[in-house]
Formats: sequence, C-alpha cells, structure tokens
Amino acid sequence: MKLLICGKGGSGKSTVSVLMARAFQRLGKRVLLVDADESNLGLHRLAGSPSAETLLEALGGKAGLRSRKQAAFPSATCPAFYETAFTWEDIPERCVPDADGIRLLKIGKIKTFGEGCACPMGGVLRPFLLNFQAGADDRMIVDMAAGVEHFGRSVDAHGDRIIGVIDPSFESFKLARSIMALAQGADTPIAFVLNKADDRMREAISQFIDPALIWAEIRDQDALFMAGLEGRPIDLEDPEVDALCRRLEPVGASQ
Ligand SMILES: Nc1ncnc2c1ncn2[C@@H]1O[C@H](COP(=O)(O)OP(=O)(O)OP(=O)(O)O)[C@@H](O)[C@H]1O
Ligand SMILES: [Mg+2]
Repeated sequence: MKLLICGKGGSGKSTVSVLMARAFQRLGKRVLLVDADESNLGLHRLAGSPSAETLLEALGGKAGLRSRKQAAFPSATCPAFYETAFTWEDIPERCVPDADGIRLLKIGKIKTFGEGCACPMGGVLRPFLLNFQAGADDRMIVDMAAGVEHFGRSVDAHGDRIIGVIDPSFESFKLARSIMALAQGADTPIAFVLNKADDRMREAISQFIDPALIWAEIRDQDALFMAGLEGRPIDLEDPEVDALCRRLEPVGASQ
C-alpha cells in the first residue's frame, strides 16, 4: 500500500507521516517512510533514523540522471532500477537506514546554490511510486513536499490513497478543497486528517469538505510540539492515528 501525505506547508505532514509509520509498525507491517520533500531536512530526526545518501545521489545525482537520459536517446527509456517493476529488496541498502524498525528513504535534496530546480526529484519520485511492487505487508508512507506542485507532475496518480493533512487555518481549508479536486483528477482516493484540531476547527472545516472524508483528528499535543522544536524522535502513540491506520488496512489483511 502506498499512502501519499499531502497538505499545506507546516500543516503537520511530517509529524503525521511518522505517527502513521509507527502505527503501521505496531500492526506488524514492514514500513518504508519516504521523504519526498526536496527542501526540509528533518524527517529522519523525527523518525529516529541516521541521515543517509538520497536516492538521487545513489543514482549519480542530477548529472547522472542527465547522462543516462542522453545515453538512452532516442528511445527515451532510461535504464534505472526504478523504471521497471521493482520490490523493496531492489532499493539500494545504503539509502534505507533503519529507524528503529522503520526504513527511511530520501528521494533528493537541494543542497548547492545554483544547482537547478527540483524537477529531477519529481522525475525520480513518479516512476518510483509507479513501479514499486508493494508486498502484502509493505506500507509505504510518502511525506510529500508542501503544496500541490506534485499534482501538476501527475505524481499523485500512483498512490493507493492520498492523506490530506489540514491544520486550523483558512488557507489550509481552502487548499484541502483544491487537493480534493486534484485527487479526483488523479483518480486517487482521498481521506483527510485534521491536525492540531479542536471543536472549533471541526465546525469550521465542515463548510469546506464532507465530514465523512475526515478519518482522524489529532489534537495539539505538547509531545509533538517538543519533538518538532528539538528535532528528536516522535515516540507518541495517538489512538486516532492507530484507528486511521487500521481503517486503511485492506479488508482481510493479516494483523
Ligand atoms: N498535533 C500537533 N501538536 C503540536 N504540534 C504539532 C502537531 N503537529 C505538528 N506539530 C508541529 O507543527 C510544526 C509543523 O509540523 P510538520 O513539520 O510536521 O509540518 P509539515 O507539514 O511537515 O511542514 P513542512 O511543510 O515544512 O514540511 C512542527 O513544529 C511540529 O512539531
Ligand atoms: Mg515536513
């Protein structure tokens, strides 16, 4: 199962991604947490994982991708492991350090002034999602970059479900509605998580999206705030997140 965690900048995508990764781990699943944000650097800390080589670096960086494309010209096929069907075992081991039982993969980061745009990261992520053959117990959780550019790149057509994270702000509500329409365009099912939620937020959001699409409400919690403030691992179990992950499990899946 491939889950794409989307939403406004700062809404809580990374926090929710790690909470979900841990919840699936408790359900006995093999979890691959994918950091698809080319800017922020902290997901591995929230997950308790060492920093490792990104997938893009393992593929030779932007220059490596470019030369492979040129070599493949004019057939337009790029020989890379992720461009044909592949499984968990094919991912370069050095890119997936163990974060206390969860594996974490970074797609790529902007690191150098003037290196160019983040298109190569999107260019790797899309076929990576498309071609990953998840085993029955594999749960891939993708912490997407903020905003909606990845929808413009058609990346979101290759997940099994989009999880939209909404924080208590009018901007976030508006974006949730637009993400819902974009998900429809991608033909990918969607569910939402209210984050830093309280009763006022539930009332306000009901004017923007169908409450039936809200599958979890995570409260503002000091333990999450402090993990974010200090860049340390999230070690909190949230019953709403546990219920969300159980609901996401395919009917009849072993638990
Ligand atoms: N439920 C919560 N309770 C308290 N603080 C929270 C909660 N969820 C997230 N936070 C805090 O809100 C901030 C933003 O969270 P997070 O980094 O997960 O958002 P994001 O959507 O991944 O941001 P970005 O778009 O920058 O990647 C962090 O400081 C985090 O610790
Ligand atoms: Mg983030």
